[in-house]
Amino acid sequence: MSGHLAAVGFHVFEETVSDTTAQMVASRVEEAAFAEATASDASDEAGLIRIYTARAGELLRAEAKKLGVPSRWGSGGDAGVTATEAELTSSGMLVGDEPASGGESETSSDEEELSALQRLVQKLALRKAEQEEGGEGEPSGEAEEDLEPLLSSFDVAGVAEYIKSGKCGNIIFMAGAGISVSAGIPDFRTPGTGLYDNLQKYDLPHPTAVFELDYFQENPAPFYLLAKELYPGQYPPTPTHHFVRLLHEKGLLLRCFTQNIDSLEAAAGLPHERIVAAHGNFDSARCLKGHPADVHRVREHVDRGEVMRCESCDGCDALVKPDIVFFGENLPERFARLVAEDFPKCDLLIVAGTSLAVHPFAGLINHPGEDVPRMLVNREKVGEMDESTRAIAKLIGRGTGFDFGETNRRDALHLGDCDAGFEELARLLGWEDELKALVEKGRAQTPVKERPS
Ligand code: OAD
Repeated sequence: MSGHLAAVGFHVFEETVSDTTAQMVASRVEEAAFAEATASDASDEAGLIRIYTARAGELLRAEAKKLGVPSRWGSGGDAGVTATEAELTSSGMLVGDEPASGGESETSSDEEELSALQRLVQKLALRKAEQEEGGEGEPSGEAEEDLEPLLSSFDVAGVAEYIKSGKCGNIIFMAGAGISVSAGIPDFRTPGTGLYDNLQKYDLPHPTAVFELDYFQENPAPFYLLAKELYPGQYPPTPTHHFVRLLHEKGLLLRCFTQNIDSLEAAAGLPHERIVAAHGNFDSARCLKGHPADVHRVREHVDRGEVMRCESCDGCDALVKPDIVFFGENLPERFARLVAEDFPKCDLLIVAGTSLAVHPFAGLINHPGEDVPRMLVNREKVGEMDESTRAIAKLIGRGTGFDFGETNRRDALHLGDCDAGFEELARLLGWEDELKALVEKGRAQTPVKERPS
């Protein structure tokens, strides 16, 4: 959690709902408010902050209502900016258990509370900007330019040198669909070959409907048909998956956070505790009322192309869905817990095969500290902001993504196929033969599915 909502909204929820829910909500709200501010035609900083805070305030309030939590705003935060008691009081916020500003918060009108929240977010944003200008807090502007680069070169060779120097032992690997493309599984968004361009046969209202709960409830058949195509066990892990396993075997991998539902990381031999399946997978399933379902029965239904209904108790009959995170659903509890535990320890972040289009996963690239090198291995450059978006992001305390430009001091880039990138990295690390052996063994073990061309 990096923005000012972490400092304000996050604590609203944290006291009343689980950490995971609080983080999901704050991240969702922050993302939506940021998108609105950057898409607006506000021409100055104050205007942008106004739009951001207004939207964030509204959304936080709506989320609080949805969750049924009392809307009592507290203070705190991990963004390096914490509201002082005086600020909270003057904003009309609550501090601790006692209502500030005349004790009317719990009974105050929605409008008063909302505008108080907006004032506070705005104040925090402005104070952070002042601190940075005054040289307090995070370095910015000119100071940043003076900092030494963290890699000898911003490519695979620079990362190989960094790993060999022994400076890292807690690598986090973030994976997306691109790492499974060479196995025969299409990614989602590559024009022409991506899954979302090839779902015509399912007659969906729009491609992503296949992963939307409302649509699933109405018409689960397309998801079941797609599940048959994607079901794990038909595709071999790729050299990239085996490279991640090698990182683990060398004692360098802290965690692999994957968006993929194909379970190829596990198929490559990575132990389950090293994997965070951020968007779930087929390993477990439940009905829409929450009853656990037998995954073997789910598999039988998927194989027959039949939709499964709950068999756990008489009369439930709700639709069964593998535990894959659909749009709008919260990510697994384990995701938020391990993001909080792992990222402060991360000393090298590797991001591969993802468009970084889906949040909150995409925002993870901002979680490692400022002094942690990162590497993107992808066919296209992703995760960078244009100059004005970056300026707004800084202002409101959000992470600013990758920087492959002139001010870069820590972001390596390999543009191209990830297998080639990791084979090159393995070669530079002297792991070439081990990687080859793993790939060959993996191929021999998995029945490879013939895919239509
Ligand atoms: P996308 O399809 O959005 O992005 C895949 C990225 O990988 C693109 O940037 C491609 O250019 C790149 N790519 C493709 N093949 C590659 C290769 N061989 N080597 C290197 N790069 C390659 O997939 P994700 O970012 O994973 O949600 O998508 C995120 C989420 O959106 C998915 O988890 C899925 C989807 O809706 C669920 O399944 C719930």
